[in-house]
Amino acid sequence: AHPQVLAGRRVVVSAGPTFEDIDPVRYLGNRSSGKMGFAIAEAARELGAEVVLVAGPVHLPTPPGVTRVDVRSARQMRDAVIAALAPQADLYVGAAAVADYSPVQGADHKIKKTSATLTLELARTPDILAEVAQRTPRPRLVVGFAAETQNLAAYARGKLYAKNVDVIAANAVSGAESAFERDDNALHVFWDQGETEIARAPKRDVARRLLALVAERLEAGA
Ligand code: PMT
Repeated sequence: AHPQVLAGRRVVVSAGPTFEDIDPVRYLGNRSSGKMGFAIAEAARELGAEVVLVAGPVHLPTPPGVTRVDVRSARQMRDAVIAALAPQADLYVGAAAVADYSPVQGADHKIKKTSATLTLELARTPDILAEVAQRTPRPRLVVGFAAETQNLAAYARGKLYAKNVDVIAANAVSGAESAFERDDNALHVFWDQGETEIARAPKRDVARRLLALVAERLEAGA
């Protein structure tokens, strides 16, 4: 059994990739499997929280006791997250790999290969994490992830301040140790006054350690 350190808390977690449709048969996506976010949702439930998991297109079973909302695009994920935050969530964890750009206009019909080159026009998607951290009412604690291929600490701290979030969990996403798809992960966690490392372990253990840290901060602020 796990100490119910999140009992009575409402937690919203995002997980997985988003798919941005180009036409009825093609999309822009990324390598996220959803494993990290699903592990966080499962761990939060085990710690006693009421959990809503907003999931992009993934192939994973829903953790027991967790309410799951399936979405496809960044826009849909944004709307589902905002809806899930009411009434007053205590914690938001943005573990999803949300597309930063989406086709300006998805084609109604399959694009034909009639030209030698093809240019897609893309527009920025809503930044869900930044919106959640800035809106009123705001979850008591907002936790973001940072997926980096270089300068991990500097970029992660940059996201902490730029997006006004309370905690950023950074992981490497290049080379043999990339956090994507695999069953284990290692995190470098940053907050305003400090940082800590969570050593490589199965994602469910990493999730529990991250939530223990977050629960302490919720307690302190509650
Ligand atoms: O799913 P897995 O295969 O288990 O892999 C796990 C993971 C690598 C996807 C995960 O651990 C992770 O790092 N998730 C965040 C991936 C990401 O998009 O990072 P980012 O540095 O590009 O974004 C920073 C933060 O802003 C993230 O919390 C992201 O959810 C959020 N964001 C980004 C863009 C956007 N439009 N909206 C957002 O909310």
